[in-house]
Amino acid sequence: MPLPTETTPNGYVKRWWKEAVVYQVYPRSFYDSNGDGIGDLRGIIEKLDHIKGLGVDVIWLSPHFDSPNADNGYDIREYRKVGAEFGTMQDFDDLLTAIKAAGMRLIIDLVVNHTSDEHEWFVESRSSYNNPKRDYYIWSEHKPNDWPSIFGGPAWTQSPGGDWYLHLFDPKQPDLNWDNPEVRVEVYDIMRFWLDKGVDGFRMDVIPFISKDKTFPNLPEDLRAKPQYLYTTGPHVHDYLHEMNTEVLQQYDVMTVGEAFGVTLQDTPKFVDERRQELDMVFQFAAVEVDRGPDGRWKPWTLPQLKAVFTRQDKALDHHGWPTMFLSNHDNPRIVSRYGDDRPEWREKSAMLLATLILTMKGTPFIYQGDELGLTNRTFTHIDQFNDLWTKNAWQDEVENGPCSEADFFANQNKVSRDHARMPMPWTAQGGFTTGQAWFALNPNFTEINAESSQTIYRFYADLIALRHAEPALVYGDYSDLAPAHPHLFTYTRTLGDTTFLICLNFSVEITAFESGVESEPVLSNYASPFGPMRGWEARIYKV
Ligand code: NOJ
Ligand code: CA
Repeated sequence: MPLPTETTPNGYVKRWWKEAVVYQVYPRSFYDSNGDGIGDLRGIIEKLDHIKGLGVDVIWLSPHFDSPNADNGYDIREYRKVGAEFGTMQDFDDLLTAIKAAGMRLIIDLVVNHTSDEHEWFVESRSSYNNPKRDYYIWSEHKPNDWPSIFGGPAWTQSPGGDWYLHLFDPKQPDLNWDNPEVRVEVYDIMRFWLDKGVDGFRMDVIPFISKDKTFPNLPEDLRAKPQYLYTTGPHVHDYLHEMNTEVLQQYDVMTVGEAFGVTLQDTPKFVDERRQELDMVFQFAAVEVDRGPDGRWKPWTLPQLKAVFTRQDKALDHHGWPTMFLSNHDNPRIVSRYGDDRPEWREKSAMLLATLILTMKGTPFIYQGDELGLTNRTFTHIDQFNDLWTKNAWQDEVENGPCSEADFFANQNKVSRDHARMPMPWTAQGGFTTGQAWFALNPNFTEINAESSQTIYRFYADLIALRHAEPALVYGDYSDLAPAHPHLFTYTRTLGDTTFLICLNFSVEITAFESGVESEPVLSNYASPFGPMRGWEARIYKV
């Protein structure tokens, strides 16, 4: 595809995916159309107006493939087959048609660092030393090093045959051997299969992990709690991404966003500098790590720390790279409980303030399902209430076999667990997700917090998205933090040519004096009369 060349006054090449707003659907929890308790593809079609009504441009669909669901679909058994619980290939084709008819695009999850251990490649690979698929995975006669799995426990498991295989995640997620050219050809074929159907790109699961250092050094002591910072530094990761780009991606007009879990800010440009032809964008993790300590557990955070992250991220890329803006996804707790204030009197205002932040920052914004309703975390009190294997492993490691008290365990998981985001969507005060038994309990607060009761937040998202679409300065404009040290006001500008927006966000319930220096009233605010001091969780966007 010949690349567009039109540039903005500050030097960015204009691309549709830089101007897009993305909405992530976690299909299992979105809407169940047939009463079996599991969200499905027909359910997304039935609720497409909800997504379309926001004005978003792109839907990112979390894995919809055939999977034994050890990790809720991030363990794929067959790449060209729709998971039976989600529907059929016909349902997928119908969903894609409906999305296009609604004027949107669809990107899907590409999970190719690992497969399921039930994938036929792995079944063959482990069956004998001389099986043609043996070298599709990473085997060793001895356990080569001390690498831990991201999910806890060792990253090596001994198969009944005696050899050890590598899995940087669960033992049911063996890592593919990308050094084998046949593996890469298989992956490129899978990508073409979906692109030829008309999907508009990929979110790439832990893609920086694909290349392994086959000398298998031990993990440095300082990376014990964050081995991902080693796993992203394999010797050929950039060769393989460049090859993928030239072999496949360049033939299509698509967008790619890599999950840069464990990539430092310093290394980010290597993945997204357009001159290198690898990925279009990555998810940078610093903002969602602001409340994690060196041991990976929850710690308190401050607004100046978060502001410093955004400034650092902004400076890490020049106009040859394009950032993303996200604070949530299926791996993170709910934004209102995390960065906002989920008490009933402040939930709505703080949800609207966070929407303002996400939709006025530089970088393609990603909204996670339910954030447009201001959904909150729940309080888990028993291990059986969780679904996520990561949390269950942590229970074993920390409580059953470790020194952590149950109270400490729940205090931490109630802040960090991925299950906060994975509870089914509450569509009505009756739940409204399924007519059957939901695969995972809804947040018990669904009677108060649901799609019907949260229309004010929903409409504010729609207004913000419309504003972003109308104002190139909110997409391409340069970013500048005006008061990095202020403890609860976040004030910044976005400037493109002679247009400047001033955004002021009060991250607290404190009424705080504020002089905008601008004569006109804000173009958008979450308060009816946005004048004078900033009130609790007030958000204002001024056009200067
Ligand atoms: C990142 C995904 O977002 C997460 O949900 C998954 O558990 C891991 N990658 C492993 O695939
Ligand atoms: Ca279903």
